[in-house]
Amino acid sequence: MRVAVVGAGYVGLVSGACFADFGHDVCCIDLDQSKIDALMAGRIPIFEPGLQEIVANNVRLGRLTFATEIAPAVRAADAVFIAVGTPSRRGDGFADLTYVRDAARDIAGAIEGYTVVVTKSTVPVGTGDEVERIIRDLRPDAEFSVVSNPEFLREGAAISDFKRPDRIIVGREDERAEAVMREIYRPLYLNQAPLLFTSRRTAELTKYAANAFLAVKITFINEIADLCEQVGANVQEIARGIGLDNRIGSKFLHAGPGYGGSCFPKDTLALTKTAQDNGISLRIVEAASQVNEQRKRTIARKVIKACGGSVRGMTIALLGLTFKPNTDDMRDAPSLSIIAALQDAGAKVRAYDPEGTDQARPLVDDVHFAQDPYDCAEGADALVIVTEWDAFRALDLERLKQTMRTPVLVDLRNIYDGAEVAQQGFAYESIRPVA
Ligand code: UGA
Repeated sequence: MRVAVVGAGYVGLVSGACFADFGHDVCCIDLDQSKIDALMAGRIPIFEPGLQEIVANNVRLGRLTFATEIAPAVRAADAVFIAVGTPSRRGDGFADLTYVRDAARDIAGAIEGYTVVVTKSTVPVGTGDEVERIIRDLRPDAEFSVVSNPEFLREGAAISDFKRPDRIIVGREDERAEAVMREIYRPLYLNQAPLLFTSRRTAELTKYAANAFLAVKITFINEIADLCEQVGANVQEIARGIGLDNRIGSKFLHAGPGYGGSCFPKDTLALTKTAQDNGISLRIVEAASQVNEQRKRTIARKVIKACGGSVRGMTIALLGLTFKPNTDDMRDAPSLSIIAALQDAGAKVRAYDPEGTDQARPLVDDVHFAQDPYDCAEGADALVIVTEWDAFRALDLERLKQTMRTPVLVDLRNIYDGAEVAQQGFAYESIRPVA
């Protein structure tokens, strides 16, 4: 199959590279000349484990190419994937569809022969209808179908999520489009991945429903964690206890500083807007959004409590700034709210992140960026694990103790055994009580 991918961002690049790996002939298109130049020179603009190798291999085999001009690739394509950004619109939080509409117009100008136009970007229900209208208005003669094929990739695990998906959702309105999509995903469903065909609107909404459900699940366990703290129960054991019930499932029950990233905060907001526009109020999702926003800031109180009730004049060292490990993405990261809260409370902040420093730097003021965890801890009154990078899971506590002013460890991801840490002479605070 010949595939064109419009938008060489995170989703477009991962999808394009993986489609090429399946043996399809793929061209990734982006208007950003510097990004395309970098990709052609073998440089990947994002940090995603495994992506570099797949891109390099498929470029070498001639199955993956890059371009800034949309027309040649779209003209030749059996399917064109729209994988451009849909950021939150300033002011109302609704998904901004400017780039999707622009892509639809560009595609319309180039279509030749029957083409399936696929939205992979996360778009509000009804966007497929709009894309269809845009193309139809500009090219009444064109032979095409518009399909919704939402992505369920997690940053940091995107390649394996793409190649071993729990399911593939395809929203289509006709059989011709279904046949093309079956062909594109053939290597996956031959591999037993469920390929679910639905209506276009159902597929669009499935994506938001999935992200909203996961956001609610995380928020739920975070609230239970707060209660655990008050009553002396252990939230990790509760997560395991309820997670073993198949109806609940064990994943996404890790209590922490609140969810961040480019998806959950934005998508929960967009979903509640869509509901409001349709006269419905999604109160559970709205509550999860609000509770999570608050949590990202109030979690800093744990640090203040561990420091004896005030951090004024103290130095606090943060380990991990990105919204989760294995990414350099700082969007809506809890670390940003924690830094602001600690600085407001009078603390000086030092920080270290294995990949996110360059992204973090412009987002914060007066933070000293360290070279490694030990450099970060130097002279600190407390060390706070904000993101659970593997590199923080086996720190040399003795070495930390020597370099810190006060040996206090605040573990917002519950990656240490409190008793062991205490034995090494640290005051230890986590989301789970030590009890
Ligand atoms: C999320 C979804 O998991 C993907 O399925 C989806 O495709 C993607 O959004 C998207 O819409 O593009 P992602 O945002 O990359 O993926 O990251 P997650 O691994 O889902 O983590 C999101 C946030 O939740 C992180 O801040 C993480 O620390 C937090 N989290 C996750 C918890 O606090 N506890 C958990 O148990 C799980």
